[in-house]
Amino acid sequence: MQLKIFQSEEELDLAAAYSVAQVIIEKPHAKIGLATGQTPIGLYEKLFQLFEKGQVSFKQATSYNIDEYVGLDRDHPQSFYSFMKTHLFSNVDFTEGHMHIPNGAAPDLEAEAKRYEDLLNEAGQLDVQILSIGLNGHIGFNEPGSTLQAETHVVTLTQDTRQANSKAFPSPSDVPKQAITMGLGAMMKARKIVFIAKGGAKAAILKQAFKGPIDPLVPGSLLQLHPNLEVYLDAKTATLIADER
Ligand code: GLP
Repeated sequence: MQLKIFQSEEELDLAAAYSVAQVIIEKPHAKIGLATGQTPIGLYEKLFQLFEKGQVSFKQATSYNIDEYVGLDRDHPQSFYSFMKTHLFSNVDFTEGHMHIPNGAAPDLEAEAKRYEDLLNEAGQLDVQILSIGLNGHIGFNEPGSTLQAETHVVTLTQDTRQANSKAFPSPSDVPKQAITMGLGAMMKARKIVFIAKGGAKAAILKQAFKGPIDPLVPGSLLQLHPNLEVYLDAKTATLIADER
């Protein structure tokens, strides 16, 4: 794991964006794994700026989002598709049909999970995967539990996760109870993982994930096994990890 610590979120976002852009510059038809949440918004802004300056184009790239809420169609304001449209898809030059995201409104969710997994298998290997972590250690929506799944699946969200994600919804009870998430298999197979966390709140869970044992109760701990994991943290978030080095 390559640990990169920054004094400001601005510097972190730029460095992480360069790392992602580098992959696409070297391989224009790169397959990129995307994540949602507050954490990667700055990185997406920086990718937009690099695109505007003509330093990177997404025209030949294909994207695969790691998760979507069940029950929200893609144009629902709180869907992850809408999030991606706002923060990246509308701002850069992806080719129509090249941005993949599980369909949370599919009538048969198991069939949709299988369709998405087949799509990932066809892709073979993601060139870069952007990731962050939930306060309870989840990655994508792979929630803590006694077992972890490798393949795309339907998951029941924990109360903690619904609470943590409720800010984006009119009220906590509006947060969907289920999601479709990529399993850890496709993420772990990616050639490179660009992992980011900032703001300080994730310091304790990061200590467990990166300094503790590999434990299905902390899904993020599995990332320790990835051979090309870049970890971008701001100084506030790195305290418990950096102190022990
Ligand atoms: C979300 C997503 C994750 C994300 C996490 C943290 O629900 N499914 O991909 O990493 O929760 O989100 P945030 O960055 O808002 O803290």
